[in-house]
Amino acid sequence: MGKSISTRGVCAWYGAQLTLKGIDMSIDANQVTAIIGPSGCGKSTFIRCLNRLHETVSGARVEGSIRVGDVDIREIDPVDVRRMVGMVFQKPNPFPTLSIYDNVALGLRLGGIRAKSELAQRVEHSLRLAALWDEVKDRLYAPATALSGGQQQRLCIARALAVEPDVLLMDEPASALDPVSTHRIEELVEALKGTFTVVIVTHNMQQAARIADKTAFFLNGELVEFGETTQVFTTPSDKRTEDYITGRFG
Ligand SMILES: Nc1ncnc2c1ncn2[C@@H]1O[C@H](COP(=O)(O)OP(=O)(O)O)[C@@H](O)[C@H]1O
Ligand SMILES: [Mg+2]
Repeated sequence: MGKSISTRGVCAWYGAQLTLKGIDMSIDANQVTAIIGPSGCGKSTFIRCLNRLHETVSGARVEGSIRVGDVDIREIDPVDVRRMVGMVFQKPNPFPTLSIYDNVALGLRLGGIRAKSELAQRVEHSLRLAALWDEVKDRLYAPATALSGGQQQRLCIARALAVEPDVLLMDEPASALDPVSTHRIEELVEALKGTFTVVIVTHNMQQAARIADKTAFFLNGELVEFGETTQVFTTPSDKRTEDYITGRFG
């Protein structure tokens, strides 16, 4: 089941450059939250703080509190954080030397699941969740790289879901895909909501409007506006949000 996320005073730096300037955000469990904003405003940096990837960049630093459910993720082992908070990136990045099956099974094996039948059942479940099962069930042992870009992205989603995270972070997961694959990812996100908490960065405002319950608008490392998606797009409360969604900049 998904968990809520609560950030308080989250600041992030790359070296001396302050990139996130105190983000306070309460993200509901089991909903889809979209993050929009112009390039370079800190969207990726923010979601990379939510699974402690930001700090893996040399010279990078984070301050503030980040809670997933009732756990402060900055106080536990990053390996455990990444089990709770899965991530999918812009460019599909399956393990190229592994089969479709092993891409999904790897995290389960690392988590200590050895029994073949349990592995097979959880791999199938994850591939079904990612709406990929029917397309791959007859070639599970083919290399992941034999799949199309859109299928590879759904494989990456299956891989992320296999370890049953509470939160799924997606950083522009469809922006490298064709329109049909994009549509499938959007349908998938809608289907996952209710079971997982999804936070999706998108530069596509129509996409945010289609799939997100709530939308956050970031600008210059600040959270300018955060509310119900329909409200943000129809009656934004901040002039800067209005300017952005009406295409005046960005
Ligand atoms: N690895 C990095 N090293 C130094 N600066 C970075 C790095 N990644 C991002 N930045 C800078 O941080 C700011 C926010 O970037 P990012 O979070 O990627 O924005 P967005 O995802 O909204 O386009 C930008 O000014 C960007 O240049
Ligand atoms: Mg980005």
